[in-house]
Amino acid sequence: MATHQTAHGITTDRLLLRRWRPGDAEPFARLNADPRVMEHFPSMSTREESDQLIRRIEDHFDQYGFGLWAVEVPGLADFIGFVGLRIPPWDASFTPCVEVGWRLSAEFWGRGYATEAARAALEFGFRSLNLTEIVSFTVPGNVRSRRVMERLGMMHVPELDFDHPMVAPGHPLVRHVFYRIRRDSETLKTQL
Ligand SMILES: CC(C)(COP(=O)(O)OP(=O)(O)OC[C@H]1O[C@@H](n2cnc3c(N)ncnc32)[C@H](O)[C@@H]1OP(=O)(O)O)[C@@H](O)C(=O)NCCC(=O)NCCS
Repeated sequence: MATHQTAHGITTDRLLLRRWRPGDAEPFARLNADPRVMEHFPSMSTREESDQLIRRIEDHFDQYGFGLWAVEVPGLADFIGFVGLRIPPWDASFTPCVEVGWRLSAEFWGRGYATEAARAALEFGFRSLNLTEIVSFTVPGNVRSRRVMERLGMMHVPELDFDHPMVAPGHPLVRHVFYRIRRDSETLKTQL
């Protein structure tokens, strides 16, 4: 896959990963209010919560120089969701770490966009940020998300599965499966 970093962001064969624009707020709020997209989260977001999340994402970019990029399909859709890297702001046995994450509008699922964008995010993390490891996690039942992790060559590490510290103890969505990929992994070398 050919990826390029430009002044506008990171381009892949079909996508542009870029900083957020004001026009993204409305489609992002729609996506965050879609029960299909939010099936594996404790709750859907109000418009205000969705806007707050954009502010937190932008603060992360300002603080660290990378983050959860807005994803555009040039010529097809100005905004389809986010894919990128972030530093979780809470403690667990595996923190501090950098996480790769994704959330796309359901009408753009099933086209390989999440995996394509996430490969570019991993490449950025390993080549530009010089990270040695990138992690990901989700609830066990989020099969689509786990399939993205597996397509990326990430490995499930069951001994690091954990109860998410931001979810109430005993909540049905508290348990999370933990995946990781290392810069020197063989799968990565064949993919980038
Ligand atoms: C997780 C999520 C991003 C996965 O989206 P996705 O579209 O299933 O994943 P990809 O973009 O990698 O697409 C893969 C699918 O596209 C298909 N595909 C079609 N054309 C393709 C192409 N040109 N290249 C690659 N794959 C293609 C693949 O066969 C695969 O289909 P399958 O899953 O039915 O086998 C999406 O379901 C989502 O946003 N969920 C809600 C938010 C969420 O749960 N986020 C994670 C929280 S931890």
